[in-house]
Amino acid sequence: MNKSIAVLTSGGDAPGMNAAIRAVVRTGIKNGWDVYGVRNGYQGLINGQFERMTTRDVGGILQRGGTILGSARCLEFTTVEGRALAIRNLNQRGVEALVVIGGNGSQTGAYELNKMGFPVVGVASTIDNDLVGSEITIGVDTALNIALEAIDRLKTTASSHQRAFILEVMGRKCGYLALTAGLAGGAEAITVPERETDPEQIAETLRMSYEHGKNHALIVAAEGADYNAAKLTEFFKEHRDRLGFSVRSTILGHVQRGGEPGASDRILASRLGCGAVQALVRGEYGVLVGLNQNKVTTTPYEEIVGKTKELDSDLFELARLLD
Ligand code: F6P
Repeated sequence: MNKSIAVLTSGGDAPGMNAAIRAVVRTGIKNGWDVYGVRNGYQGLINGQFERMTTRDVGGILQRGGTILGSARCLEFTTVEGRALAIRNLNQRGVEALVVIGGNGSQTGAYELNKMGFPVVGVASTIDNDLVGSEITIGVDTALNIALEAIDRLKTTASSHQRAFILEVMGRKCGYLALTAGLAGGAEAITVPERETDPEQIAETLRMSYEHGKNHALIVAAEGADYNAAKLTEFFKEHRDRLGFSVRSTILGHVQRGGEPGASDRILASRLGCGAVQALVRGEYGVLVGLNQNKVTTTPYEEIVGKTKELDSDLFELARLLD
């Protein structure tokens, strides 16, 4: 009998997840294994939604955003009972190992499942890029480019009207997207969850920009920052007269997650998906597959779970220097 493995996508979807699924399925099959796709993340594991996948089933998905398997945030899986049910379903189908494509919460679930004795390998995938164990995660490059396109468009209309724009990007706990979008988009100010914001200083920066003759200004705010779009807007209302610019705000929201993956994410996802199966071939599990110094690496879950990647202080300082 062939060895069987299963693959699922979990948590917030990320452009490139499909490329990772494709890589897992094709590498698994080339290895002589049966590969099952699990629908809707951990919820599908609990509900027993398994489908045997062939090489053809993953044809034409490389360039598609989202995840063909569906994804979910599953509360039941955070309980021992929920995970026990999942293991029972996996065992019933003769599945011997699971590949979990997802971000921080999903990898915590994978760690717990692995601790209960079921072999799991994780693939680092989230637009937040907050996972320790991978310098870059699947989806963040595409999401960043979507944010950048929004910035470029906002700047055009901002210049026509001498306005300042606040663009809020995703990132509840992690400011990577806000920081890199702000840096690449030439923002006058950036707010992130990892640093305290001084709104007075931002107001001052806007005023100076106006006085120096700039015809627009841009603030990129992370949704989880102490001063996100709503908070900054509220603050600026009381300081309208001194800013020079009038202010508008845009919340980019899930638009960031909905794009077709760019070349970087397709390549990264293909490498990590293949790397996950190769780890299982080596008999390695209980690890996160990520990219470090341009090499596919594995890091034991014990070293990454419960942690969040730190903000790059050099990049933050660079963005400040260039505002
Ligand atoms: O985890 C990725 C992410 O897009 C975060 O940046 C964001 O805070 C969250 O998911 C949104 O979650 P949901 O799609 O469940 O609203």
